[in-house]
Amino acid sequence: MIDFHNHVLPKVDDGAKSLDMSLSMLQHAAKQGITDVVNTVHYQHPKVETEDISYKRIQSEVQNLQLELDRNEIPIKLHLGAEVFYLPNLGSVKDDPLSTFIHGKYMLVEFQVHQLPKTQKQVFFDLKMQGVTPIIAHPERYKPVQNDISIVSEWLEAGCVIQVDAGSPLGFLGPSAQTASERIIKNGWCHILGSDSHDDKRRNFCLNESVDLVKDWIGDAVNPMVLDHPRAVIEGKPIAIDFEYEPEEIPNFWAQLKHRIGLT
Ligand SMILES: [Fe+2]
Repeated sequence: MIDFHNHVLPKVDDGAKSLDMSLSMLQHAAKQGITDVVNTVHYQHPKVETEDISYKRIQSEVQNLQLELDRNEIPIKLHLGAEVFYLPNLGSVKDDPLSTFIHGKYMLVEFQVHQLPKTQKQVFFDLKMQGVTPIIAHPERYKPVQNDISIVSEWLEAGCVIQVDAGSPLGFLGPSAQTASERIIKNGWCHILGSDSHDDKRRNFCLNESVDLVKDWIGDAVNPMVLDHPRAVIEGKPIAIDFEYEPEEIPNFWAQLKHRIGLT
């Protein structure tokens, strides 16, 4: 399996606090059958304002951690990536190879939890026009999506890829994220499942348990979410974004009233 979303570099963002913690997390990942880990360091996020999140530095951090993995015989290959915090500047950010998995074909974008800026639709449209496909990081964790799941279908219509956190279906990120993730996955709207692991305790790699649960919901359709699709992102190849959406029917006022007073 490939883990597509995590903060495993030691002492760079709010992820692993030490090299020992990184190695413990990656040892745990290897035991789950994860062979490839795409590191997605926070990028232009308020959390990393004082850190040097440049291509050169992160590339060197990834190389150093890979050496430690090899030395400790942990059979995992690391890949370079970033989780870009949404600002309306994505059109210029895309020129930094760190922001687009080096090849410039995809960008993993996260929003703050409480609101989605109005500018996002136009900014994503412009990115697509320039050949960069936005990957929406953990939509199930955003309050507006929890209140209106159709926002995800709008991203799909715009050609975006959807990444759900593996801990969400398991309930690790709260009941609202759990419910929203189940709806997104059962609707066939999720392309990638990523651990979003931050530490070796509560937010560790949890791909195995999540895949088992999601398999109960959608069977083998879970496999591309941890294999083919993250592999396509690493290699800069296309992912088919094919979906259907039938809005849930909301009964009108009289139908609801009749139902309440027991006439239906
Ligand atoms: Fe993340």
